[in-house]
Formats: sequence, structure tokens, C-alpha cells
Amino acid sequence: MDLTCLPGTQAPRVTIVGAGNVGSTLGQRIVEKNIADVVLLDIQAGRPQGLALDLMEARGVEHHDRTIIGTADYADTQHSDVIVITAGLPRKPGMSRDDLLKVNAQIITEVTRQAIAQSPNAILVVVTNPLDVMTYLAWQSSGLPPERVVGMAGVLDAARFETFIALELKVSIANVHAMVLGGHGDLMVPLPRYSTVSGIPITELMDEGTIQQLVDRTRNGGAEIVSLMQAGSAYFAPASSASLMVESILFDRSRVLPAAAYLDGQYGLSDIFLGVPTCLSRQGVTKVLELDLSPDDAQALQTSAQAVRKSITMANALLKSQT
Ligand code: NAI
Repeated sequence: MDLTCLPGTQAPRVTIVGAGNVGSTLGQRIVEKNIADVVLLDIQAGRPQGLALDLMEARGVEHHDRTIIGTADYADTQHSDVIVITAGLPRKPGMSRDDLLKVNAQIITEVTRQAIAQSPNAILVVVTNPLDVMTYLAWQSSGLPPERVVGMAGVLDAARFETFIALELKVSIANVHAMVLGGHGDLMVPLPRYSTVSGIPITELMDEGTIQQLVDRTRNGGAEIVSLMQAGSAYFAPASSASLMVESILFDRSRVLPAAAYLDGQYGLSDIFLGVPTCLSRQGVTKVLELDLSPDDAQALQTSAQAVRKSITMANALLKSQT
């Protein structure tokens, strides 16, 4: 008796470059939610293969239908629909995201070229820090149109802000929606006026001092976890955030999600990737939403953009000096 009855249709395919904490947790989320088959790629010998086998064995309990393979060979990533890049070094205590610039710039350009060569039609989602700069470098080295490249940070920053709002107001997190713009760093721009509980702006629910405390905690959200963990940085919420973006892309949901997108005049900025509200669909970033900002928020966004631009210039000079 032939019992073969697995679906014959091709599932979407997501390659995750970097099978570290974020990459492996993201792989787990994607397969366990039945979103796509996953290829985990890493340079550490045996690690992606071991993780993939471990995750496949969990299918005996989780009962999802997706497969996950581990590899060090880009040929195994062919025809991916989405490529997520988490390869790089995480922050260590006392290290800023920009300290990571030097080492991760080299990694991101190399891995992007190799991954896109195998999957020229993929949407590229960048996670490696410093996020906005790495997204720009990945776009540069990918040769892709800018709407097919996007960076993950805003979903995570908004999730952190939402968490702190829900805890403070003692309301269900399901009713909280927050918006955070700008670069993924200390200069990010959380927007209380656009952050709501069941449609009510938090500016009507909390005093200014309390809001400022939550904003500050959001800005330092990554650093707070780094200082607690001592080794490594946050990965559960980052993996959930990247998973949400992958889902919006593959299921063509066009969800409005804050993400690092290429700006071509929006918010008065050009030739930069920066955190803004985007529509994320199967074509990538199909739209950048332009919010009406207060003068202070508009100025904070420009300041954040200046810092990102400075790092892009530094990173490009560095890459040039290495060639
Ligand atoms: P990790 O150290 O656990 O994993 C990084 C993995 O990349 C390692 O397994 C390493 O072997 C691999 N790798 C390094 N060079 C590679 C190469 N050339 N090719 C393939 N794989 C390579 O780090 P973790 O915690 O997973 O973080 C990954 C990156 O994501 C870091 O840069 C971190 O700062 C960033 N991150 C960004 C967030 C965001 O909001 N955008 C949130 C959390 C982390």
C-alpha cells in the first residue's frame, strides 16, 4: 500500500542566513506556523544541519507540514521567495550598535550577493545590526529594486512600546497599537500620538512624564536585555517580529508595519533606508505611509536620519578601503 499523501504543491521557501539565536528561533516560528519551508544557512560547521534536524524532529509533536534544512551551501537556497539575513555579530555589553558596523558591513555585503545570486526574485528582509545601515548595504550589494529590500526593527520597537503601555495601563496587549519611526537605535522616534488603546491615543490615558518613561524604556529596549543577559542579545521578540513581516509578504497581506524602507522624498528624505510605516506585500514595500508629524517628531526623525546617513558613509568608506 502506498501511503504517500503529502501535499504535492510547492510551499513557499524562506532562506535564513545566519542560524544563530534570531535565525534559528525565526526558523522555528515560520515552520511551526506553517508559513513556509525553511533553509537555515550558517558558516559554523554542523550548526544549521543540527538545528534543522532538531526542528524536523519536533514535527513529531508539533504536527506541522513544513520542512527545514540546514546547510553551508548557497546552492541549497535556490528559488527562495524570501531571504532573511540575520548573519553577523550580536551586541556585547557596553557595545553600541554602531560598534558592530565594521564587522557586519563586510558580512552583509558578502552574504547578500551570494544569496541573491541563487534567488534573484526574492524579497530581502534584513535583521543584522546596525539595522538601517545594513539594510542600505544589503540593497546596494543586491542590485534589487529598493521596494524588494526591507529592514526589521520598527515591528520590534513598536512591540516593545506596546508591551510597556499594556503593562502600565493594565490592559490587554491585543488592544494596544503603537507606532515607532526612525532608525533602530537610541534615536528612534516612538510616536505617542499615533499609539492607541482600542483607538484612544495614549496621550489621553497617561500623563506626559509616564509616557516619557515608556518612550525611554522603548529606546533602550535592546540595551536593557543585553545588560541582563550579559552574553548575546534579544531574540524571541526579534524573531516574532521578522516572522510577522515574512507572513505579511508571503500571504500578500499588505499589512501596515513599521520597517526600514527606502525613502525617495518621503518625509523630506532620499537615498536612505529608515523606519517608516510601510505596506508589506508579496511585491515587498508597496507603499510608504507619510504621517503628519509634530515639529518635534519631524525634527527627531531628521536627527535620526542624519545619524544613519553618517554610518552609511562610514560603512561605505570602510568597505572601499578593504577592497
Ligand atoms: P548570533 O551570534 O546568535 O547569530 C549570528 C549567526 O550568524 C551566527 O550563527 C554566525 O555563525 C552567523 N554568521 C556570521 N557570519 C556569517 C556569514 N558570513 N555567513 C553565514 N552566517 C554567518 O546573533 P543573533 O542574536 O542571532 O543576532 C543576529 C544579528 O541580528 C545581530 O547583528 C544582532 O545585532 C541583530 N539583531 C537585530 C535586531 C533588530 O531589531 N533588527 C534584533 C535582534 C538582533
